[in-house]
Formats: sequence, C-alpha cells, structure tokens
Amino acid sequence: MYALIKETKAFGAEYREVEEKSLAAGEIRIAVEAAAICGTDIHYYKWDQAAENFASAFNVELPLILGHEFAGSIVEVGPGVEDKKVGDRVAIETHIPCGKCYQCQNGDAHNCNSTGIYGTTCDGAFADFAIAPASVAFKLPPSIETAEGALFEPAGVAMRGIDEANIKPGETVLIYGCGPIAIFAIQMARVCGAGTVIAVDINGYRVDMARKFGAVGINSTKDDVYSEVMRIAAARGGVDVVLELTGSPAVYKTVFDLIRREGRLVTIGHPPGEVPINFTKNVNLKGLSVKGIFGRRIWNTWWQLSGLVAGKKLDLMSVVTHRYKYEQHQEAFDMTAGNAGKILFMK
Ligand SMILES: NC(=O)c1ccc[n+]([C@@H]2O[C@H](COP(=O)([O-])OP(=O)(O)OC[C@H]3O[C@@H](n4cnc5c(N)ncnc54)[C@H](O)[C@@H]3O)[C@@H](O)[C@H]2O)c1
Ligand SMILES: [Zn+2]
Ligand SMILES: [Zn+2]
Repeated sequence: MYALIKETKAFGAEYREVEEKSLAAGEIRIAVEAAAICGTDIHYYKWDQAAENFASAFNVELPLILGHEFAGSIVEVGPGVEDKKVGDRVAIETHIPCGKCYQCQNGDAHNCNSTGIYGTTCDGAFADFAIAPASVAFKLPPSIETAEGALFEPAGVAMRGIDEANIKPGETVLIYGCGPIAIFAIQMARVCGAGTVIAVDINGYRVDMARKFGAVGINSTKDDVYSEVMRIAAARGGVDVVLELTGSPAVYKTVFDLIRREGRLVTIGHPPGEVPINFTKNVNLKGLSVKGIFGRRIWNTWWQLSGLVAGKKLDLMSVVTHRYKYEQHQEAFDMTAGNAGKILFMK
C-alpha cells in the first residue's frame, strides 16, 4: 500500500509504497476513506520545536506514517476482536489508554498515566489502510457519512470543551481563536444554549468564517477586543465563559479582563512554554474556575457528538475548505499556513 511517511527529522514527508503489517491480537485493519490534517501533523511535517518536544515526550520512532484524524471501513479483524466486524465504518480515538492505571479505572481513561497516541507512538492513517486497536474504534451511526467521521476526533476536542464549559441558557460565550476546533465550538455553543457567541482571531479569513457560523467576530488586529466584548457583556461584568483555542501566550495577558466574576475559563490551546499569570488578581479574587482539557472523554464525548451530528444539529463537513489527494501533500501542508478551515485527504 501507499502511505505518507515521515522519514527523517527534517522538513517534509514522503508518499511511497510500504509493506502492510499483519494484525496483532485486538487490532483491526481499516480502509481509510478520509483523513484530516491536525496541528500535530503540521509540526511533524515541518519538524519544528513542537515536533522535537513531542518526539522526546512520547519516544517517537521514525519512519512514522503521519495522520490520526480519520475514518473508514474495517477490512480485517485480528484475533480476539469480537465487538467489531468487517464492513463496520469506524472513526478512531487518538488516545490509547492502558486500561490498568488509576485514571483508566476511575473514568478518566482519556488522561491515562501511560497513554499511547495514535500517529505518534504508533503508525498513523495517511495511507490506504490503517491498523488500530479495536478498543479505540467508534462505530459510526448509519446516518453519518464516513468522511464526516474523520472529523470526530478534532470536533470531539471542541465537544469536550463545550461540555466542561457547562453553558447555561442565554450565557455569553467567548471562543478565543477561529481555527477549525474553534469553529466547531462556535456551532456547539449555540446548540448548547449560549445567547451570544463571540469569537476572536488575528486572521481575517477565519474571523469571517466564525461570523458565517453565527458568532460575533472580532479581528484583534483591527479592533480592541476589550471594548468590543464589553459592548456586549458589560451588564454581566464580562463574558460568562471563555474557551481558549489559540494556544498563544499573549492571550493570557488580557483574557481574564474579559471574564466576569465567578466566570469560567476552559483552556484547550497549548501554549508552547510557560505563561505568567497573576493568580491573586485573576483567579482568586475573581472566583474564576479554570479547567484544562486533554482529549475527548472516552466514550462520553463521542456519544454527545454523534448525537448532535446524527440529529443534524451540527454540520462538521461545513468546516472543511480544502480536499487533496495524498500525492498533493506539499500543497496541502502549504495551505495549512494560509486561509483555510479544516483540510482533508480523500482517496
Ligand atoms: N487540549 C487538547 O486536547 C487539544 C487537542 C487538539 C488541539 N489542541 C490545541 O487547540 C488549539 C486549536 O486547534 P486548531 O486546530 O483549531 O488550531 P489552529 O492553529 O488552526 O487555530 C488557532 C487559531 O488561533 C489564532 N491565533 C493565534 N494567536 C492568536 C492571538 N494572539 N489572538 C487571536 N487569535 C490567535 C490563529 O490565527 C488560528 O486561527 C491549538 O492550540 C491546538 O494545539 C488541543
Ligand atoms: Zn488531532
Ligand atoms: Zn491507563
């Protein structure tokens, strides 16, 4: 089969023929129908500092098949797989829990003490066929297109953030960032009862995209975020909740001023290093709740998302702006730096 492979710790990847491995116990082979590019893939493709950090944290071994956001049909099941069969259409959870640690045994398997990460600690899915443990495969309901299933993993990050944000009817929600996960979150916040959703980005194309999905868009390179937010939320003393989806340390200098007393901050974007925060002023005296997110709840988040997509409350495909063949990988990865939403590889 053919696969997009990271060969060396340098820029780029190679699309070439590779030998198919045989299945171990508990594994399934999936004919990949669609796969999306994630930030992690971009770091690996460029091989930047973040890639170096991931590589040392998770003992990444090259060559590695890239890609982890995908869906397809099962073509083979390994020994011992009983709950999945050939022909089932599945999407894959990236966090591969050990099943044995305290977190795994107490309802927090998404944050397992020794988690595997699909496409990092094992080969990924930018390929004709992908191998995964059956235990991390989620069966797609009949009403959901397989390609849409490829977006369950990133949309699941937004779904988890929205769930933890605990939005009450009519609340004012601020989504910091207008990248693909943020655009999913805007749709979800509206479905889950927000009165007003505000979205901020430095990229005009993405702010326009946020507006198309019903958010009040603020381009922070042109407009003052504080005065725009207070124009909407002054009566509350700020917004009820912020979902941080930029990963930019700069955002933490001003984000607390936008949130009302006793409000909530859900942090999802990963700043690359340390971020100074005045806890007395911004957290204690304000009575703020801060919740960090790492991955989707297994399987709560998946069922929440699947229910909203099957019920036509969310249209995940509307966040896709570009589709490519694997042969066009250079063009596809170039596009991630530009004006784009989610980018899909399709067979
Ligand atoms: N916690 C988790 O489990 C988890 C999982 C997946 C992704 N993530 C993180 O979530 C974040 C969002 O993911 P994505 O795929 O949508 O990323 P993305 O990089 O496509 O989007 C980030 C957006 O933030 C904007 N931005 C950057 N600096 C900004 C600033 N100072 N002010 C306003 N906007 C700014 C960028 O223009 C971009 O549109 C990333 O940081 C990613 O690493 C976290
Ligand atoms: Zn991802
Ligand atoms: Zn575990």
